[in-house]
Amino acid sequence: MSPQPSNAVATAFLGLDNFNDYYDPALKRARQALLERTGVFIVEGDINDIALLKKLFEVVAFTHVMHLAAQAGVRYAMENPSSYVHSNLAGLVSLLEVCKSADPQPSIVWASSSSVYGLNTRVPFSEKDRTDQPASLYAAT
Ligand SMILES: NC(=O)c1ccc[n+]([C@@H]2O[C@H](COP(=O)([O-])OP(=O)(O)OC[C@H]3O[C@@H](n4cnc5c(N)ncnc54)[C@H](O)[C@@H]3O)[C@@H](O)[C@H]2O)c1
Repeated sequence: MSPQPSNAVATAFLGLDNFNDYYDPALKRARQALLERTGVFIVEGDINDIALLKKLFEVVAFTHVMHLAAQAGVRYAMENPSSYVHSNLAGLVSLLEVCKSADPQPSIVWASSSSVYGLNTRVPFSEKDRTDQPASLYAAT
C-alpha cells in the first residue's frame, strides 16, 4: 500500500436506484454491473426513504448529487399515475430535504424533459418558453 499524502481526499461515487419494473429490471442490473466495474457502487433503495438517504450522507460526504431517478413516460401515466407523484414529486422533495440538511451541502443537478414545454408550438424549444401548459402527468411532475 503506498502512503497517502496528508491532504488526500477519498473520492466516492455512489448511485441509488429502486430497480422498479417500469421496464425490464435486468437492463438496470446490467447497467449496475457496468457502473460498478468503473467504481460507481449502486445501492438498492428509494429516494423517498429518508432514513436511508440520511445514512448514506453520514457515510459519504457527498459534494454533488446528480438526480436522475424518475418515473418517465407519457402514456404510462394513464396506467400508474401514483408512480409519477411518488418518484417525481415526493421523491424530489425527500432528496432536496436531505441535501438541505447535509454538511457539506451538495450541489444538485437534476434532469427535466422537453415534455415540460407541452402545448407550446414554437420550435426549437427554449428554456425561456412557458412550462405551465403540460400535456401529460409526466410533464407536470
Ligand atoms: N431518456 C430520455 O430520452 C430523456 C429525455 C429527457 C429527459 N429525461 C429525464 O432524465 C431522467 C432519467 O430518465 P431515464 O430515461 O434515464 O429514465 P430511466 O427510467 O431509464 O431511469 C430512471 C431510473 O430511476 C429509477 N427510479 C425511479 N423511481 C425511483 C425512486 N423513487 N427511487 C429510486 N430510484 C428510482 C428507475 O429504476 C430507473 O433506473 C428523468 O428525469 C427523465 O425525465 C430522459
